[in-house]
Amino acid sequence: MGKIIRGQRIGILTAGGDCPGINAAIRGVGKTAIVKYGMKIMGISDGFTGLIHKEYRELTEHDLSGILTLGGTILGTSREKPFKGISKHKNDISKPILIKEHYEQMGLDCLVCIGGNGTLKTAHLLSEEGLNVVGIPKTIDNDVWGTDVTFGFDSAVNIATEAIDRLHSTANSHKRIMIIELMGHNAGWIALYSGIAGGGDVILIPEIQYSEEKIAEYLHHRVEENKPYSIVVVAEGIKNPGKDRSVAHYLSNRIGEMTGLECRETVLGYIQRGGTPSAMDRVLATRYGTAAAGMIAEGDFGKMVALKDNRIVSVPLSEVSGKLKLVGSDDPLVLKARNMGTSFGN
Ligand code: F6P
Repeated sequence: MGKIIRGQRIGILTAGGDCPGINAAIRGVGKTAIVKYGMKIMGISDGFTGLIHKEYRELTEHDLSGILTLGGTILGTSREKPFKGISKHKNDISKPILIKEHYEQMGLDCLVCIGGNGTLKTAHLLSEEGLNVVGIPKTIDNDVWGTDVTFGFDSAVNIATEAIDRLHSTANSHKRIMIIELMGHNAGWIALYSGIAGGGDVILIPEIQYSEEKIAEYLHHRVEENKPYSIVVVAEGIKNPGKDRSVAHYLSNRIGEMTGLECRETVLGYIQRGGTPSAMDRVLATRYGTAAAGMIAEGDFGKMVALKDNRIVSVPLSEVSGKLKLVGSDDPLVLKARNMGTSFGN
């Protein structure tokens, strides 16, 4: 463990898809580092792009005021992956070299990387290159291995749940099958949680293979039971035989053909990622941010802050990198929903 050295310069960047709560995390790291440890914070623009081009500015305590409730990221973000292609071609090492040079030139003692799986993988590789790195997990998808939850997820689930709630009344009025497609990349966390919170009748997630016949059978059965409408919640990552169309669009046509029931689709899209963070996400992001500042002060590098059983811990980036946290087909929530009659399309 290192010791706390006042005046240390901390670089901070946000990379990958944005999500609610990022600014709360930046504020948590920054205010703690400045107020408690007397450090300086350098805000790097647009993720790893900013490090490649040495674009940054100092963030004062004043700059960190009034950002707690803001959606997006005050630093900007990008999907730049500086190590991409290197293992294949073994020749384009210019970006990591530039990053290392700029880290030195900026006089950084540490780099805080706020991001999801791609960002944390890059953070790990930079740490292996000798940079002092601390990771903070963020994503609406909640698919980062090594932590029980990422911030952004709660806000996305709240937004998706409200959307599902609103579909119920129109579905009921028209006696329709409403199919709503939610984000989540290759994980079904958002669809599972908001599907349960919003009373979805069918929940389709990438981790559980669905059959169109089983869905059609289930929806018919509901009509026979005098349940005139149904809500089908689908994660964007499920199998999509429609390829160039959204999977909700594909299923709407297919289920309509198979059942003769009237179907409509909604693709919620980026609304799930935008806007102000929920109170839970503000608290979680603040916990992560303040804990990350503590790790820097202790010299505890090469790690990611994480939540385990509602306690903040740190996990080596080497353990997190390259892994995904997916929904288990025997996840207690899946089993409980099945017990209540919810279909997972299988
Ligand atoms: O990872 C967050 C996420 O919003 C996913 O749910 C979605 O698949 C993806 O990002 C969209 O990425 P982009 O911002 O590149 O369109």
